[in-house]
Amino acid sequence: MKTLHQSPTDPDFVQNPYPFYARARAAGPLYLWAEYGMVAAFDHASVAALLRDRRFGREPLTPLTGPDHLAPWLMVERHSLLEAEPPRHTRLRALVMRAFTSRAIADLAPGIEALCHRLIDDFPAGEVDLLSAYCTQVPVITICRLLGVPETMALRLLDWSHAMVAMYQAGRSRVTEEAAAHASAEFSAFLRGYIDSRRRTPGDDLITQLIAAEEQGERLSPDELIATCILLLNAGHEATVHALGNGIRTLLATGTGPEWLAPARIDATIEELLRFDPPLHMFTRYAYAEAEIAGHIFRRGDQVALLLGAANRDPALWPDPDRFDPARPIQTNTSFGGGLHFCVGAPLARLEMRLALPILFDRCPHLCLAEPPAFSNSYHFHGLSALRVHPA
Ligand code: HEM
Repeated sequence: MKTLHQSPTDPDFVQNPYPFYARARAAGPLYLWAEYGMVAAFDHASVAALLRDRRFGREPLTPLTGPDHLAPWLMVERHSLLEAEPPRHTRLRALVMRAFTSRAIADLAPGIEALCHRLIDDFPAGEVDLLSAYCTQVPVITICRLLGVPETMALRLLDWSHAMVAMYQAGRSRVTEEAAAHASAEFSAFLRGYIDSRRRTPGDDLITQLIAAEEQGERLSPDELIATCILLLNAGHEATVHALGNGIRTLLATGTGPEWLAPARIDATIEELLRFDPPLHMFTRYAYAEAEIAGHIFRRGDQVALLLGAANRDPALWPDPDRFDPARPIQTNTSFGGGLHFCVGAPLARLEMRLALPILFDRCPHLCLAEPPAFSNSYHFHGLSALRVHPA
């Protein structure tokens, strides 16, 4: 197997990882990515197949352990649906999906529309950072509403969430670990108290539904209830913020006009935005049994990296893949993953994009970049650190 070298914190790579992906993909399906010490798949066929291959999964073979200073973070991770495999995953995911109905998502639409207008009304005169003033607010407030957490908690949630997801980003250090553990402890304590108050006064929200599942007996333990709420609150905004930010950047940089956001075209435009510059680029799997893929033998316990951002630029599926072309026919890209762990929130994220983008471009017809936006050094996340624009 060939070995590839690419630091995930190299500034050029962080700003534009796609040339590296293209080089890797062109030379064959699997490589040893030296900096991760892990075999990695870059082409669409291998990534899509591995996502669905039941000989591979996210749950570690031995229970997740770590140093004492990480205990509160490990507690959340150990009970997370994202880190589970069947039968635990099946049980947890079914509970979440029961509350995550298409009806519940569609009912959020009028509130999202009103929120977008309110945020634009509140833009300061002159230059504005859309990432903080718009792209962050829409998903974080929406996920608060869906779960039934007060919107006034949005800022705290953002702090806790950023500290926790930094654990998955390149450059993790002792400081990152302590911040993640501290955030996990505070977040869990807040939810424990909040869930108790919701038990006394149930609402029409997802937390109340999950509490009912917990109270009905064996289905959801108190720790799983906390971990599930944290996962939904964190996953419910982290990626959508950057799907919106990367999307607006692409639309402005390519001079794509508002006609591509009209009702007849919006779905194809959103899929192309998600394909072209997705916010999450890499996820990993463990091999649960010996498995041969593209001539490579994985041993039980080996890890493999799936490069979602690279699979989306595979010319075998998308001719001229480095060109943003909202007129392309829709083909399923890998931005939301695939198989058992396919993103629970994909319909919600798409709805938020379908509403937030046309409203922004309609309300701000002269929207233009105030400075070239830069991506933050947070691989495997791929999102901007700011998006400064002139809205009018
Ligand atoms: C554009 C925005 C989003 C993107 C690109 C995205 C992407 C992903 C991806 C790639 C996975 C699978 C990871 C893997 O296979 O290892 C995933 C899982 C997940 N996502 Fe999202 N996501 C987005 C928005 C959301 C939202 C709004 C929610 C709302 C709750 C959400 C909740 C989840 C959950 C709970 C899982 C775990 C599913 C499971 O393990 O069965 N995501 N997401």
